[in-house]
Amino acid sequence: MQEGGFNSHKLKKNNKGEQVTLIITRVTCVLIKMFGKKPKESIGLDIGNHYVKICELTQKQGKYYLSAFGIEHLDNDSQEAKVTAIKKLARESGITSNKVNISVCGPLVIVRYILLPSMTRQQLESAIKFEAEKYIPFNIEEVTLNAPILEEKREDGKIRVLIVAAKKSFIEDYVKLVESCGLEPQLIDVDSFALINSFLLNNPDKQDQGIIALLHIGANFTNINILKDGVSHFMRDITIGGRDLTKIIAEKLNMDYASAENVKCNPQTRQEEIFSIITPALNNLLGEISLSFSYYEDQLERGIDKVFLSGGTSKLKDLDKFLSSNLGMDIVSWDPVLKLQVNPALNQERLKSCLPMLSVGMGLALSSPEKT
Ligand SMILES: Nc1ncnc2c1ncn2[C@@H]1O[C@H](COP(=O)(O)OP(=O)(O)OP(=O)(O)O)[C@@H](O)[C@H]1O
Ligand SMILES: [Mg+2]
Repeated sequence: MQEGGFNSHKLKKNNKGEQVTLIITRVTCVLIKMFGKKPKESIGLDIGNHYVKICELTQKQGKYYLSAFGIEHLDNDSQEAKVTAIKKLARESGITSNKVNISVCGPLVIVRYILLPSMTRQQLESAIKFEAEKYIPFNIEEVTLNAPILEEKREDGKIRVLIVAAKKSFIEDYVKLVESCGLEPQLIDVDSFALINSFLLNNPDKQDQGIIALLHIGANFTNINILKDGVSHFMRDITIGGRDLTKIIAEKLNMDYASAENVKCNPQTRQEEIFSIITPALNNLLGEISLSFSYYEDQLERGIDKVFLSGGTSKLKDLDKFLSSNLGMDIVSWDPVLKLQVNPALNQERLKSCLPMLSVGMGLALSSPEKT
């Protein structure tokens, strides 16, 4: 039993024979870390279903420096399209190493928050295993499990533990995909936890500012995170995102998917018409967000103070107003490079337009092995 968690499974050895185990970090929840040489730079590779993004951060005198980034659109959702996009990014983005941090999200990743009575570390290890078996719908031997302690000195004397698990076969296939692109995965995190790292680095004042929600709306998934005083209290991935909006436009306007995507992102004079077409899909998303918020608020008997928005779909015009008026909360976008120094040689205009999509990749680059 390690400080901060449970460290038991050996997943496999990487191609250098280095040991691959579960590891626990302070802020992030790194599912798997592969031990190797400490790299100077740290690279986050966020493989989404619409875009693949890469960010390279270098630490300079205690500050993070964005030395390279890249984003590549996926033509379809095949593995081949992902491999082509990743290889192109590796070649053209200007990254200086092939060691990357990657992440997983969605229904195949199980995340649970549990409260356990106070006990010794040894007892805790068996208690966590026992509890994990209750929540994981697969044989415990088939999953890779990480269980960091989130809070120990609570008023009620209990210990709050985060259980994160994913099927080993899912993780192994993912690692193989990245390796087939000539890259070496260093650690595997969860999108939502990488997002927290990026958010807290850029918004340090939000660490002790009550209850906030991070809403990251991508193409296939919407990640919801609720933080109390900067600590994760609730996390859920909803399987609704920008793709559902495009699909409904394609269906209603009898268009192919690519044309619908284009109209959605550049509605020009059709803004009102497009917004009314996608409103039923937005209402579905809103319903799921409201359910999650209510569940959490009931438990804590306190409301969420503010919502911070990111992900490609947050670029949808008036989405913030729609969410704000329906949830009755302040909704604000945030900048994942606010506290970073940025390489002046990078295309600043492109960087600016891609910022909402880069927050997970930035967080992954921050989940550097040195921090664990
Ligand atoms: N200007 C825009 N207006 C509306 N939607 C946009 C705009 N720009 C990008 N999007 C949408 O953002 C989504 C992609 O965002 P993002 O890169 O965060 O998702 P992803 O990481 O690829 O997907 P996921 O994590 O859900 O698998 C797509 O659905 C795309 O249509
Ligand atoms: Mg994503």
